[in-house]
Amino acid sequence: MDSSRITLRPYKSTDADDVLSWASDDRITRSTHFSTLTSKEDALNFIDKSSIPWRRSICIDDRSIGMVVARPGSGDDRCRAEIGYVLGVEYWGQGITPVAVKMAIPLILDEFPEIVRLQALSNAEHKASHRVLEKAGFIKDGMFRKYLYFKGEIKGVVLYSFLSTDPIIPS
Ligand SMILES: CC(C)(COP(=O)(O)OP(=O)(O)OC[C@H]1O[C@@H](n2cnc3c(N)ncnc32)[C@H](O)[C@@H]1OP(=O)(O)O)[C@@H](O)C(=O)NCCC(=O)NCCS
Repeated sequence: MDSSRITLRPYKSTDADDVLSWASDDRITRSTHFSTLTSKEDALNFIDKSSIPWRRSICIDDRSIGMVVARPGSGDDRCRAEIGYVLGVEYWGQGITPVAVKMAIPLILDEFPEIVRLQALSNAEHKASHRVLEKAGFIKDGMFRKYLYFKGEIKGVVLYSFLSTDPIIPS
């Protein structure tokens, strides 16, 4: 994939059909807490609520094919944000998500100046997600065994982080 075709931008209401086409696929929600969207109304609702948490559309040639999401902490956790990402199945395996995550890093750090740490808790078995974080420059902090319920089963997670002082790897 030519990385100049990849952009990250806010959602627009005209993205609803494209959002529905990737977000209605169970294969992208199976390994995340994201709920599958089932109608155009769901997609418009998702777009309407895209500022809380912070969400940006991963686009190819300006058409929405996925998202990067960040949830800034509050109170004593306001120094960090959790990030997540999903990509339409037909685009998997082309290195698109790591490029989008690298684009998201400066946007999140600029918008939330108190944040010095971005982190992701990734299911310990989800190797593709670990690779996305590694290719985006995140460092593995460690593993938490039997950490949370995921789709009815207790799973371990791997914690990755990127600090505001870490270098962004060029795409
Ligand atoms: C996880 C996910 C974001 C990866 O995005 P991507 O753009 O396909 O990422 P990459 O192309 O960089 O591939 C990452 C790794 O996936 C694996 N992969 C390669 N081709 C693949 C394919 N066709 N299908 C699935 N995984 C593949 C490889 O291990 C690759 O690592 P490598 O580059 O070292 O070989 C995407 O699969 C997805 O949206 N999954 C569902 C949602 C999800 O699990 N989100 C993460 C939890 S927040």
